[in-house]
Amino acid sequence: MNIMRVRDYNQMSEKATEFLVNRINSLENPVLGLATGSTTEGLYQRLIEKYSQGEISFKHVTTFNLDEYVGLEQSDPKSYYYFMNERLFRHVDISMDRVHIPNGAASDLKKECEAYENAIAQAGGVDVQVLGIGANGHIGFNEPGTPFSSKTDVVDLDKSTIQANARFFNSIEEVPTQAVSMGIETIMNSKEILLVVSGDTKADAMAKLLEGEISEDFPASILNKHDSVTVIVDEAALAGS
Ligand code: GLP
Repeated sequence: MNIMRVRDYNQMSEKATEFLVNRINSLENPVLGLATGSTTEGLYQRLIEKYSQGEISFKHVTTFNLDEYVGLEQSDPKSYYYFMNERLFRHVDISMDRVHIPNGAASDLKKECEAYENAIAQAGGVDVQVLGIGANGHIGFNEPGTPFSSKTDVVDLDKSTIQANARFFNSIEEVPTQAVSMGIETIMNSKEILLVVSGDTKADAMAKLLEGEISEDFPASILNKHDSVTVIVDEAALAGS
């Protein structure tokens, strides 16, 4: 893993933006894997700025998001589809038929998961997967205990994840208990991975990741086995290392 240590959230977002601008401009048909959550908001805001300044275009970009809550319609403001549209897609020149986010409201979720895997394969795989990390080490919504061989599937959310994500909902009871998530193997199949980590709530997870012990009890630890991972991490998140 290539660790890039930065000062704070803003610098993390700037460096991550530089990284993606470079990939978007150098790949002919970039296939990006995208993540939701607080960590990537600054990155998406800056990508919109880069687009407005004419430095990048999304015309040839295809995207696959990591995950979506089960039971939320795309029009639901709490859905990841809505989040991505508001935070990025509707502000840039991406063609929405190149945008992929699992449909958590599909009537046949198993079929939805298979179709998602097929769509990734058909696009030629993910070139650059942007990842955040959960305080418990989850990647996507793959919670501790998930087999490293997992593919896109319906997953149960940990209590701690439900608690952590309750900030986006009116009450903890509203937080869905399941999600559709790209699998760990799906994530590991991407050609390159960009992990962004910020803040002291991630310090323990970061320390564990850097220890290098690989275990299904700590899903992100598998990243130590991928040969092209860049971690952009701020000082607060490195406080435990
Ligand atoms: C969330 C999402 C992930 C995200 C991670 C960290 O629950 N499912 O895709 O990367 O957990 O989220 P945050 O950046 O809000 O800390």
